Amino acid sequence: MPAAPLPADVAERIATLRRELDHHSRLYYELDAPVLPDAEYDRLFRELQSLEDQYPESRSPDSPTQRVGGGRLDEFEPVIHVVPMLSIRTETETGPAGATAFDARIRRDLALGPEDPPVEYNAELKYDGLAISLRYEDGVLVRAATRGDGQTGEDVTRNIRTIRRIPLRLKLSEPPAVLEVRGEVYMALAEFEAFNRRAEAGGEKLLVNPRNAAAGSVRQLDSAITARRPLSFFAYGLGEVAGWPLPGTQSGILDALAAAGLPVCDERTVAHGGEALAAFHSRVGERRASLPFEIDGVVYKVNSLALQARLGFVTREPRFAVAHKFPPEEGVTEVLGIEVQVGRTGALTPVARLRPLFVGGVTVTNATLHNEDEVARKDVRVGDTVVVRRAGDVIPEVVRVVPGDGLRAEPFRMPDRCPVCDSLAAREEGEAARRCVGGLFCEAQRKQALLHFASRRAMDIEGLGEKIVDQLVDQGLVRTPADIYSLTRESLASLERMGDRSAENLVAAVDRSRRTTLQRLVFALGIRNVGESTARDLARHFGDLPPIVEASQEALMTVPDVGPVVARSIREFFDQEHNREVVTALSAAVQWERIAVESVPRPLAGVTFVLTGTLPTLTRDEARAKIEQAGGKVAGSVSAKTHYVVAGAEAGSKLEKAQSLGIHILDEAGLLELLRQHDKSLSAIAKETQ
Ligand code: IVH
Repeated sequence: MPAAPLPADVAERIATLRRELDHHSRLYYELDAPVLPDAEYDRLFRELQSLEDQYPESRSPDSPTQRVGGGRLDEFEPVIHVVPMLSIRTETETGPAGATAFDARIRRDLALGPEDPPVEYNAELKYDGLAISLRYEDGVLVRAATRGDGQTGEDVTRNIRTIRRIPLRLKLSEPPAVLEVRGEVYMALAEFEAFNRRAEAGGEKLLVNPRNAAAGSVRQLDSAITARRPLSFFAYGLGEVAGWPLPGTQSGILDALAAAGLPVCDERTVAHGGEALAAFHSRVGERRASLPFEIDGVVYKVNSLALQARLGFVTREPRFAVAHKFPPEEGVTEVLGIEVQVGRTGALTPVARLRPLFVGGVTVTNATLHNEDEVARKDVRVGDTVVVRRAGDVIPEVVRVVPGDGLRAEPFRMPDRCPVCDSLAAREEGEAARRCVGGLFCEAQRKQALLHFASRRAMDIEGLGEKIVDQLVDQGLVRTPADIYSLTRESLASLERMGDRSAENLVAAVDRSRRTTLQRLVFALGIRNVGESTARDLARHFGDLPPIVEASQEALMTVPDVGPVVARSIREFFDQEHNREVVTALSAAVQWERIAVESVPRPLAGVTFVLTGTLPTLTRDEARAKIEQAGGKVAGSVSAKTHYVVAGAEAGSKLEKAQSLGIHILDEAGLLELLRQHDKSLSAIAKETQ
């Protein structure tokens, strides 16, 4: 059947649909601010698709319909790169010296003397994906090719068209005849993880890592598969160019590409000299773990194209650029065993013992498996080959098992008894961790409790570290925190590698810790759910240790921010006979300042406020913090128990209710006045106690 001729109104409708769909796609994918419901987008899309089917001559390579993919290829066609796709040299030095060594080479090659000014560079990220060349002719994407061997790549146009962030048409009113853009296709980490979560739920194959995911997706023979992979792109350079006013610098090229609608990463800088490059390297290194995509280093390029040309090439690598890498964050190794460690609160943590692996800049021999559900989810077994990740300063973790073809060990089973003290290890409802119920009878918990007790923010006993605590407990010299205060130079002398001097220092540090604050002491006890700030609140509220030990759960709940869970943890702790014994012994060994409860300035104690509407200067949180600081409470709704309602602009039903109940209403100024009185009483107390 011959194709119907294209009527003018249909052509116009097609143009409108393409414009609309492009616009909404940009809002969705680039600006992350969609305005059109998905269903409406799909409706417009299908309308365009059916018009293009009806009038095949209307088809155009820059139509949004070209992004869906579909149709299988037997192989990719070869593409010859007129301007070869080069690779760059990797700097051998990994530290800051890598940057200065590169700068020194450049200065030497440019025959610059010490008096000459620093060389200007453009510093960029080294994205970890797949290199691609995009060819735009008269502003329209006509071909996309992989790097291949640098001279000949593969035609992956249909796959690349499915990547929404790659414009099918440049945003230029007078597009150049030819513009080849080079850059990296990658998969953002969040997209990678979301994809794998979906794949896992659907029982499909998981992607191994973001880089393989990007490379594998681009090289799919079926572009419908590529279309389902959430890929992105960053432009970093140029290939063949005709009819385009070429900027004189690399930074200028990137700006121009961004202006033409290509995605260009903002994390780049123009830097002068090697020191500035080293600073960029370390700044990016620190931020690496929090970037939304993976990088394996940074790239430095001499900024001026004229200087680039002067520097030329060595074999097939340009002299003007270098890749300065970071240590890899992921590696593959073998699980030698799975051990279970017991933490301070008795939580059992499965830990994989690994064949040593250099990853993230350190040698890793252990990696956490978090908890039993995680082990089961990842199905990690002894003897498995696993991917281990250490990003930034976080604890190394086992990411996943690399499927092998051999026989595997039995699935790991979490013990139901504590591996250290053999007490029952039970799992409470809603908790991920199994916990040993042995408490301080459990040696592991005892050691952890002692380390916590001595830690800097608790009793601050310098020198009482892991090695010493291990020995003290193993030799039976210390059982509870209170025993620390009976240590003498003589008793310490029996420890390994403990000279007279160290023993003396440790005893002195223990003595120094005898004078402390109630807050530190309460925190040091290591009560579950009682961190530093709760310890401070308890100290301020009760003023001394005995009232805390005796307080009922209800009394504890009158302390700001102490809810039923925390109150129960505190009560359970002090209900244990051995904990009370420890507290009694400690009370004899240490002194803390008692806080006269009356003198704690809490003029608004027992006063309940409700905040409503927008205050002129304070945010809700600021107003709440000020009230709570003065001892007041902020409730969510107005009732007969409310003392004050603080109302700002556009206060609604809460204000009405307050009026109907005859509750006192304050504006922001009124609240601040109330708080000022609180300040006055504070300074009055301070004077009295001087
Ligand atoms: S420039 C002539 N810049 O790293 C210079 N490459 O061997 C050509 N890469 O596979 C490359 N980020 O795909 C350049 N900001 C960046 C890059 C980058 C990643 C990749 C590139 C190639 C390898 C360099």
